[in-house]
Amino acid sequence: MPVSIVIGSQWGDEGKGKVVDLLSQDIDIVARYQGGANAGHTIAWDDTTFVLHLVPSGIFHEGVTCVIGNGVVLDPAAVIEEIQTIKDLGYDVEDRLRISHNAHLIMPYHKAVEAAREEARDADAIGTTGRGIGPAYMDKFARTGIRVVDLLDRDVLREKLTRAIEEKNAILQRIYGADELDVDKIIEEYVEFDQLIDPYVTNTSEYLCNALDEGKHVLAEGAQGSLLDVDFGSYPYVTSSHPTAGGCCTGLGVPPTEVNRSIGIAKAYCTRVGNGPFPTELNDAVGEQLRDVGNEYGATTGRPRRCGWLDLVALRYTSMINGFTELAITKLDVLSGLDELKVCTAYQYNGKTTQRFRSEVQTLEKVEPVYETLPGWDDDITGVRHLAELPTEAQDYLAFVSDYLGVDVSMVSIGPKRQQIITDLEARMPA
Ligand code: IMP
Repeated sequence: MPVSIVIGSQWGDEGKGKVVDLLSQDIDIVARYQGGANAGHTIAWDDTTFVLHLVPSGIFHEGVTCVIGNGVVLDPAAVIEEIQTIKDLGYDVEDRLRISHNAHLIMPYHKAVEAAREEARDADAIGTTGRGIGPAYMDKFARTGIRVVDLLDRDVLREKLTRAIEEKNAILQRIYGADELDVDKIIEEYVEFDQLIDPYVTNTSEYLCNALDEGKHVLAEGAQGSLLDVDFGSYPYVTSSHPTAGGCCTGLGVPPTEVNRSIGIAKAYCTRVGNGPFPTELNDAVGEQLRDVGNEYGATTGRPRRCGWLDLVALRYTSMINGFTELAITKLDVLSGLDELKVCTAYQYNGKTTQRFRSEVQTLEKVEPVYETLPGWDDDITGVRHLAELPTEAQDYLAFVSDYLGVDVSMVSIGPKRQQIITDLEARMPA
């Protein structure tokens, strides 16, 4: 059986957690392939709302095994706490979670260096989540990182940590004038993690490849969004990993020939947290309405999200990179009550109209969106379960998006709860 990938098609927070939770009903394994505790994947059912930061969003389905792949940067304290909270909710985790032995660890010095660097950048700060993600990936590629497997050998861990902390203390003190970290305290804290993490540690690439050979179906769960990809996003206002489809193979160690489904998740409008260009941003009452109605506050940091109209130029770009075979449109209900809806179908740049997305900051911050205006609808659609029950204007909005992109819309989410999703969309084929 193949690998399906769930990919954020915008700047993150598209509602991937909910879609992964839904698809997990028919899946054997859900595997996270990049990012770390900067992600916040929200799942809501009955009276419970749960935000997952590291554990894959399939964990609430008993038959599903969850994998944290080698491409993830793992904060051991955060994952241990998350596991405990999931267990407290009554779910078995011990036999159902596997953590790659090759995943790199987030250390306290990664967060300290990140905080010092962001402060020093001042007005040019990236606006990171403060979870140490960038510095951890830096160490990975500088080949000075510490991996999950190192936790299991106390002597190796002590030696690697001592060397790393000495170096980081020099950076913190000499470059940023920040406080030094206490080597012994960190070592004491991290050697404690080995027993807690040990039951989960696995060669996950081997595990996944064997599972695929046995006919199991793997759902690869991306974090963040394609426009935050370190290569394809608006660098440097990006995260430090590859949320795009390519990240799945390197972040899990599965062959590209196994991937046959690339599911793009797109909000019915756009949001962005942190700094960086956002062509369709609305700094007006409509933007505020989207934030209020959509509860657009970061699931990890609580920061208010910047809100704007749907940007189809950007979406076509991420569809191209990821080869979306289908789209899930989320939060369509948030648009209810707006008289008219604008959709960006081109950019004006240097006096010319273009449908080409340019990720370079210098260009992207100068483009002016060109909008098509579509009629809005008033009805509350949060109880709708079938496409045909949606107001015509809402159906037309979906058809417009699908036609522009040339990609089918296969799911439409109309509220935060598990059951608030429309899946009978086969009829909406692009023209
Ligand atoms: P970092 O990933 O913490 O280094 O942050 C880099 C950029 O990515 C910042 O603009 C963050 O706000 C953004 N970012 C990171 N993770 C998420 C996410 O899960 N959702 C939305 N934005 C994110």
